[in-house]
Amino acid sequence: MGKLIIDTDPGVDDAFAIALAARDPEVELLGVTTVFGNVPLEHTTRNALRLLSLCERTEVPVAAGAGRPLVHPGMPPEETVHGADGLSGRSHTLPGHPHGLDERHAVTLLADLLHTATEPVTLAPIGPLTNIATLLAAHPWAKAKIDRIVLMGGGTEGGNVTPSAEFNISCDPEAAARVFGEDGLRRVLVGLNVTSRTTVDGAWLRSLGESGALGAALCGLVDDYLAHYSSTLGEDAILMHDSLAVAEAIRPGIVHTEELPVQVDTTFGPGRGATIADRRPGASGAHLTEVATGADVPALRELLRSTLTQGR
Ligand code: BDR
Ligand code: CA
Repeated sequence: MGKLIIDTDPGVDDAFAIALAARDPEVELLGVTTVFGNVPLEHTTRNALRLLSLCERTEVPVAAGAGRPLVHPGMPPEETVHGADGLSGRSHTLPGHPHGLDERHAVTLLADLLHTATEPVTLAPIGPLTNIATLLAAHPWAKAKIDRIVLMGGGTEGGNVTPSAEFNISCDPEAAARVFGEDGLRRVLVGLNVTSRTTVDGAWLRSLGESGALGAALCGLVDDYLAHYSSTLGEDAILMHDSLAVAEAIRPGIVHTEELPVQVDTTFGPGRGATIADRRPGASGAHLTEVATGADVPALRELLRSTLTQGR
């Protein structure tokens, strides 16, 4: 695995995903860009900085991006699954960042990193797609520098914020439509149909928490998220949505995919924010996306455990 950029809205599951990439010696993490989503941009940005500090990767630039959707302002989530600060009220337990934010806008940092890259770069967006859509609109040359966009969002079996829409896509459906409608761009959609089975349970978390300082700090962030998922799943477990997408970005093949035409519903009816994959034999007429249809969840758990306990 080579060069990676993560676009993120941390977020408890984002925290594990960032740590997975930041602590993997095989990954060249070029940058982290932030977007509104699970909590407002100010919080997601502060959390990203602190998480890189926790992972002892303060040389990785962090730049703040979109604070709202491209077109329709949208409503902030009524209740956040990730706690008021995005990290179960525990963001303050993480170490501060010695240098702070890169002064560039996230889209400028993305463009600069892609421009100077000497080999194709993988993008892993694990929040709303606003920054990525803006990058594609403002810097059309950039997609030639992108190897794959491996994103967490959408799914083929309905949503989690509405019957149709998954959270990241529902935050900015117009941005998602731009990303899914772009020619000449290799996309992998890691959606709820696979991430809703990507659990780690309380025993797994306790074991990671006892493994060392990094594991203890990460597991210290999960309480609100665990309470939400314990109640909705009916078991003592959380979903590692974003880690699965980042794992696919850094270990291609951990998800199984099928290439399908995918469109995003940007209407204002009950389908708004749906990612509609056309499974009819011979279907055509929309841009093709590699849609995750299965995942090696035990391999993901082991990748997380080994990476977060061994260190770089
Ligand atoms: C997605 O929404 C967020 O709450 C998670 O961080 C993940 O990116 C799951 O629908
Ligand atoms: Ca996220």
